[in-house]
Amino acid sequence: MKRYFIAGNWKMYKTIPEAVELASELKKELADCKEKLMIAPPFTALHSVAQVIKGSNILLGAQNMGPEESGAHTGEISVLMLKDIGVRVIILGHSERRHTYGESDALINTKVRLALKHDLEVILCVGETLEEREQGVLENVIRRQLAEGLIGVDASMLPNVTIAYEPVWAIGTGKTATPEDADSVHAFCRRVIAELYGSDIAKNLVIQYGGSVKPENVVALMTKKNVDGALVGGASLKAESFVPIAKFR
Ligand code: 13P
Repeated sequence: MKRYFIAGNWKMYKTIPEAVELASELKKELADCKEKLMIAPPFTALHSVAQVIKGSNILLGAQNMGPEESGAHTGEISVLMLKDIGVRVIILGHSERRHTYGESDALINTKVRLALKHDLEVILCVGETLEEREQGVLENVIRRQLAEGLIGVDASMLPNVTIAYEPVWAIGTGKTATPEDADSVHAFCRRVIAELYGSDIAKNLVIQYGGSVKPENVVALMTKKNVDGALVGGASLKAESFVPIAKFR
């Protein structure tokens, strides 16, 4: 049976005590959940949350990382530091990194390769802005983000890569892509991956949808053929909304 990958991106929310409280609730309430689960607290709470979820069925994720292993990079966090804490998955190329902090496909690609080299899993986020969608360049944008984000990534690494399709206009806006829209962009992502890596790898690729996922719309989204999970922002900040998303079936 298909196992969905349900991930929570806590963004720049939660002090350490708040993060510990939420992680403790999730650990208890999701103990019997069969899906693949991940939570990505802010950097400052990673260590404390790692202690809470140790030995549970929830993977620890980070929301970003620096492009180098070490060195004079004021303000950056290294892959080695994240591994040290127990991080297993890194979210890279999130639209907030691309659009608010100017991260290019080349920079994201450097990070993707570095994380994979260190045996971490990567969630590579892609997605178009409303303007790009309206101009009819959605497919060009997604193709570029996938192809350039994965330059130099060997096929043998693809099992450690998840793609998250997050239409920028649906993030934090309450507007969700319709399940049909999401499914068709996911199918397009799979076609691009098939061109790059062949159809077997594309078939097994996990593609999450992200953008205003809530308990009320999760079932309609997850039951689409090409949707294999969710990357949840706002609704991952409370157990009362994240638990029903993770336990949607
Ligand atoms: P929202 O669920 O708040 O729309 O955020 C989605 C997201 O950006 C997850 O990475």
